[in-house]
Amino acid sequence: MNAAFAAMALRSEPGAHMLRGIVNGGSAMNAMASNTRQRRVAQVVRGQPTSDGAGVKLNRVIGQRALDMLDPFLLLDEFRSDSAADYIAGFPDHPHRGFETVTYMLAGRMRHGDNHGNSGLLTAGSVQWMTAGRGIVHSEMPEQEDGLMWGFQLWVNLPAADKMTAPRYKDIAPERIPLVETGDGALVRVIAGRFAGATGPVSGIAVDPLYLDLELDAGATLSLPVPEGHNAFAYVFAGDARFGDGEGRGVARGELAVLEDGAAVSIRAGEARAHLILVAGRPLREPVARYGPFVMNTQAEIIQAMEDFRAGRF
Ligand code: CO
Repeated sequence: MNAAFAAMALRSEPGAHMLRGIVNGGSAMNAMASNTRQRRVAQVVRGQPTSDGAGVKLNRVIGQRALDMLDPFLLLDEFRSDSAADYIAGFPDHPHRGFETVTYMLAGRMRHGDNHGNSGLLTAGSVQWMTAGRGIVHSEMPEQEDGLMWGFQLWVNLPAADKMTAPRYKDIAPERIPLVETGDGALVRVIAGRFAGATGPVSGIAVDPLYLDLELDAGATLSLPVPEGHNAFAYVFAGDARFGDGEGRGVARGELAVLEDGAAVSIRAGEARAHLILVAGRPLREPVARYGPFVMNTQAEIIQAMEDFRAGRF
């Protein structure tokens, strides 16, 4: 509770008893929610169909003309197809330097391997948070010849001080991701950050990320805190939802809502079950020099990255 609310409650009915009643009563949450700075939708972005890797079809939501980046997020792709021709070629060996790639699988199986001898299998519901740091060369290949392949890849920038850090992985099995049932029609998977007392398994990340998977029953409302000052977006991948106080703004499947600043966001599902990811992170506010799989602070560092890659120094 904040001081303004306390003052208001005292003004309307002087006396400690009344204040206590409001704080402990059911109306306290509503009163507090209306006093919390709610995030509204600043911009709605529709993903662009494209292909990457050796010809994987995907929907690029961040990292395209309508939304070049949302500091510290550099790219968001949704890959979703049950036609093998759309994904079978995969992402053969390619380098990364200067940022982190986060893969969240909803369906299907992806085999990961790199030039440092790491390998792993990403299955439905699993997350891989890879810090490329000073450089890796890796491949991400489907381990299936048919059926649905569905998931996301998010690129998270690293601050200048961490761009040349040693590469590392966090491979997270689905059962390690806390699942919170709110009791009013929402299911929340906490991949990174905190929600309702649950803490996600991804920690020690420079931008202090919040990464939640939200499932809302038709018509259900969920209000949740989002760290103030952090940039945040929500991407709707099933159903549709409205964001913000009152009527809010509608966001359809395949659309991303960039959220204004605030301490909380209110989300209401439409007439069907809605499924979305909500992601937030501390903006780095550093210069970004970007060339394909290299994201550094200056052009000279990009040229160095290309030279190091060619010389086999990844
Ligand atoms: Co990659």
